[in-house]
Amino acid sequence: MDMFQNAVDTVGSTLTFLVLYSILNREAKKKVQEEIERFSIEDFKCRPFNDCHLMLPYTSAFIMETMRFSCALPMIAPRVATQDIHLDDFHIKAGTSLLVNLRALNSSKEAWNDPEKFRPERFLEPSSGQLDNSKTRLMLSFGAGKRVCPSQKFAEQILLIFFVNLMKTYDFLPAPDAPLPTITKWFGLSYSPKPFYTQVKGRHKLG
Ligand code: HEM
Repeated sequence: MDMFQNAVDTVGSTLTFLVLYSILNREAKKKVQEEIERFSIEDFKCRPFNDCHLMLPYTSAFIMETMRFSCALPMIAPRVATQDIHLDDFHIKAGTSLLVNLRALNSSKEAWNDPEKFRPERFLEPSSGQLDNSKTRLMLSFGAGKRVCPSQKFAEQILLIFFVNLMKTYDFLPAPDAPLPTITKWFGLSYSPKPFYTQVKGRHKLG
């Protein structure tokens, strides 16, 4: 039950963030739409899933950047040091409780240079245009190490499938009579965007 609670909450809020950031970042959304124009549902059916990432590098980078920016689970469950640890100038005694702030790591200036900018290109190798593994491994929204989210691959797959379907079928635009949505977050079990209005226009069906 806990496992499915985790799944519904984090995947649901990340999908809502994906819609929100596509409304707020029109140039990036246009690049996603152009990329998925060349992609069909058959590609999901008959290819090993990793190939879909290869065929949809910009869309995958858009999802990565949304996850870095939104960080649905900003803090993970506390840990306890089982032995004395020396790390740089820190001396951590055995028994000390430790909290890991994923949000801070995802917005570290040292790692990302301009963390406050929404820029999917940061995850792409300039020469090949494919995902750059040296960058994707720095995106820590699934945690890291032995207790990394056990469903990371599964979550990445459903996010890509849902997002491609949504973007291929609908265009999400700012609602004409409502203020532009903001990136203000609400914290429940996970972070999600504050409810916002959007105008949804039909595009064409996935096929
Ligand atoms: C966007 C989607 C998701 C995000 C951002 C996410 C993120 C995380 C994070 C940060 C942790 C804690 C890692 C740690 O303690 O070091 C975690 C743990 C966990 N996640 Fe996910 N998760 C996602 C989707 C899912 C899905 C789809 C499932 C199940 C189908 C799932 C099941 C779990 C479980 C069972 C744990 C606990 C693992 C443990 O305690 O060792 N997660 N997740």
